[in-house]
Amino acid sequence: MKILRLLPILAVSATLLLAQSPNEDELQSVVKEGQVATKTLLQTLQKNMQQHMKQGGVPDALAFCSNEAYALTDKVNEKLKQGVVAKRISAKYRNGANAPLADEMKVLDSLQSLKDSNKKLPPFILKKVDEHTYKFYKPLVINKPVCLKCHGDISKDPQLQKSISERYPDDKAVNYKMGDLRGAVVVTIKR
Ligand code: HEC
Repeated sequence: MKILRLLPILAVSATLLLAQSPNEDELQSVVKEGQVATKTLLQTLQKNMQQHMKQGGVPDALAFCSNEAYALTDKVNEKLKQGVVAKRISAKYRNGANAPLADEMKVLDSLQSLKDSNKKLPPFILKKVDEHTYKFYKPLVINKPVCLKCHGDISKDPQLQKSISERYPDDKAVNYKMGDLRGAVVVTIKR
């Protein structure tokens, strides 16, 4: 009966999923893999960023994010189970490599509508992409004041603004406020 707990979340988006009535064990294990991958990716990025913040403040942390965040994501993926790949996406991305695909953008849009109507975001959304593939989405919110140093009103720090625009001339990931939807972690799980 554990599946009942998942129903409200699945109902947000996954009519397709329910129509195909995948078995409960499969859903449970897909969700578990999504959660493990999300946690591994976020903890790895966060731990490294904190170290660089401590060592050399915002400039050092910025250099870390821009030089290593992407490569570190690849490294995390090497450690995950085969067929499981995690990444970060955002509608307002800094790195074009984190731009959402069309199906992922739809999920971000629905999360944004929930935010806009002051509704609580689901802890995750699960979508069945095809017979063998799921996408697990974990909403990412600006949940720490430190995020605003590089994603808030960065015009307050012209030096930082300059180094960000040198690295990312098409940066869209600024002017966020606490509590805003920043994007999502997407875990693609092949069975
Ligand atoms: C020191 C500056 C800095 C801080 C602090 C920071 N970020 Fe970022 N963030 C970046 C950079 C640089 C990138 C682009 C990384 C890349 O090139 O892959 C990025 C990328 C991202 C992305 C991927 C999507 C995109 O825009 O490319 C997400 C999601 C994100 N940050 C969320 C957060 C959250 C949430 C926090 C607070 C916990 C945070 N960031 C704190 C600099 C920062």
